[in-house]
Amino acid sequence: MEGPTSRAKGALARTIALPTLTPHFHLPMPHPIPRLPVLDWGTFSGSRTPTIPCLLSQPRAGFSSSGRASILLALEMLNVGKGDKVLVPTYHCPTMIAPVVARGAEPVFYPLDQHGSPSLSWLQQNDCIGVRAILVAHFFGIPQRLSGIRQWCDNNHVRLIEDCAHALFGSSEGRPIGSWGDIAIASLTKFLPVPEGGCLVNNLPNQPVPPLHRLTARRQVKVALDIVHTSVNHGRLHGFGLAVGSLYGVRSLLKGRPGYATGAPQPIPGPGALAEADGFSIDAHQAHGALSLACQWVAKRTPRQRIVAHRCQNYLLLAQELSHIAGMRPLFPSLPDNCAPYVFPLWVDIPDPGYAELRRLEFPVSRWDRLWPTVAPIAGDSGIKMSHHVLQIACHQDLTRAELQVMVDTLQRVYAPMQVSP
Ligand SMILES: Cc1ncc(COP(=O)(O)O)c(C=O)c1O
Repeated sequence: MEGPTSRAKGALARTIALPTLTPHFHLPMPHPIPRLPVLDWGTFSGSRTPTIPCLLSQPRAGFSSSGRASILLALEMLNVGKGDKVLVPTYHCPTMIAPVVARGAEPVFYPLDQHGSPSLSWLQQNDCIGVRAILVAHFFGIPQRLSGIRQWCDNNHVRLIEDCAHALFGSSEGRPIGSWGDIAIASLTKFLPVPEGGCLVNNLPNQPVPPLHRLTARRQVKVALDIVHTSVNHGRLHGFGLAVGSLYGVRSLLKGRPGYATGAPQPIPGPGALAEADGFSIDAHQAHGALSLACQWVAKRTPRQRIVAHRCQNYLLLAQELSHIAGMRPLFPSLPDNCAPYVFPLWVDIPDPGYAELRRLEFPVSRWDRLWPTVAPIAGDSGIKMSHHVLQIACHQDLTRAELQVMVDTLQRVYAPMQVSP
């Protein structure tokens, strides 16, 4: 993994004016803090071109309906199926493994070091008979060094699927993210205010991407409305909420059931909520569907520099505020200067029962504690420990200063009384 250097941190701190938080000042939040980006008036501000490479700008990039759909399409392109093995990391979201199993292949888990980098020595020491592909992820948006893995793949005739679900932006060892793999995949919901979307970069010129079917007009409209409705639900798009509420009220009245506009606001699933609901299986038909036009439009039109700059700024702010609390530590206290983080990974020594309390409070956090049932301990592996101890805290571009303040206060309040230093 590219080491976050103090030089890089210094460079970032110089280019980004770090705000400071007022300690213990608690702001009431009338709306849930969004775990993922949400549309707001500021979404379309700033420079269209980011200062670091974006996967969506690669010439061989195309849209899909989700990150997991892209993994399924990649395996299909590589003709991976029954009797084949696919190497996958011990630290994972089930959505990374479900496509492998859906293809009838066997997921074989490989160990990671304490920062989530694949153990190259384990790969070199273990036989890879029957292994057709390896899935390697740039966890949290921190670019992995992939030259060693690329070499290993070439030596062993194993295809590299570069999982950029957490890393839509950045470069590693001088090459853009997404250009190391034979195929690279990404997930749009993690970086853009869209309820669905994935990307596939096909670096195999002779291997066509499977055709995707078009969506119905009804579905196109629903997705477009969902983009707006999710942001209103999180208190964004001020002045627009009433209109959207009325629209949903009329729609619900026509359907003969109470709408969101009447009575108390009802939560609707935010972007990525489906991933949590059922990450252990994948709908093959849906995975072969094209991305809705509204999401494509947002993905192409949204200026990208604001996404990169705000994420780095929010990450460094959280690092600054959470570095000195006993019982927790940032997994990466600083950032390399060639990335846009997906989340702020926070190692917590005793994460429970605090994590359940955070979820109850609708704190914008997730943890990969639902592992694939066949994953087993491997000597020297840190992946399984990470899935228990690492909280993935939101640091996306659409968090307000007040929300970050509440997040820091809440973490201190939830964890301060129960932590003991190791
Ligand atoms: C590393 C990684 N890869 C792939 C995926 C699947 O992406 P999506 O949720 O867009 O299907 C996820 C989802 O969380 C992920 O974290």
